[in-house]
Amino acid sequence: MSALLNLHGVHAFYGAAHILHGLGLHVDAGERVALIGRNGVGKTTVVNTILGLAQMRAGDIQFGGVTIQRPRPYIAAQHGIVVVPQGRRIVANLTVEENLHLGAATGRKGPWTVPEIYKLFPILQERAHTPGTALSGGQQQMLAVGRALIANPSLILLDEPTEGLAPVIVDQLADIFNQVAAQGTALLLIEQNMSLVVRVAHRYLAMAKGAVVAEGPVENSRECLKDIERHVMV
Ligand SMILES: Nc1ncnc2c1ncn2[C@@H]1O[C@H](COP(=O)(O)OP(=O)(O)O)[C@@H](O)[C@H]1O
Ligand SMILES: [Mg+2]
Repeated sequence: MSALLNLHGVHAFYGAAHILHGLGLHVDAGERVALIGRNGVGKTTVVNTILGLAQMRAGDIQFGGVTIQRPRPYIAAQHGIVVVPQGRRIVANLTVEENLHLGAATGRKGPWTVPEIYKLFPILQERAHTPGTALSGGQQQMLAVGRALIANPSLILLDEPTEGLAPVIVDQLADIFNQVAAQGTALLLIEQNMSLVVRVAHRYLAMAKGAVVAEGPVENSRECLKDIERHVMV
């Protein structure tokens, strides 16, 4: 079976700035992969390249075994790949429910519907008619995750989903990510919080200077946590 997502020898740029240097990675169906590395190594640029927001000048990208010449967000969505972007990006003048409908409109049909999202995040139902930006940071992140799920993806790319959130919210999101993964959705989790990585991921990829430089299995143990943390120490 071909990988849901496969990047091979990718060189990506913002204008003249050369950010990814021959990056390779793959995520298979149902996998839980963490992408780690210190600030500025190019983790978000991996996401931006998959969405066509950074320019790929060499290498190749495949979605579900299909080579994608010019990646675009809608092409990723058509192949069941959706992104929860860094910084959440809730549409400011839409309510919670309108934000969810927007996610549904750009995605695929499947088991995730507005009522199912409300079962997962009851607080979103309570706040259904509130403008997205009137939510707390944690609620906005739940909405961003709900908006991704409702597109019925086979792979969700989560770019630092717990950045700046209180530990109790991080715990809640970790449970949600595990539930979603248990239902068969693959995750690529970009994360600086290594305790979250060991709770959710089964494999890690460590980046340095625009390339994947190490990878290995993730176990929920203190030894594994220490081992992985070495890759993100400044
Ligand atoms: N739009 C942009 N134009 C030029 N350089 C950028 C742009 N966005 C990010 N960069 C640079 O690309 C590098 C990688 O950034 P990024 O992918 O955001 O790293 P990470 O997500 O790992 O923190 C950094 O040096 C950053 O300054
Ligand atoms: Mg980033």
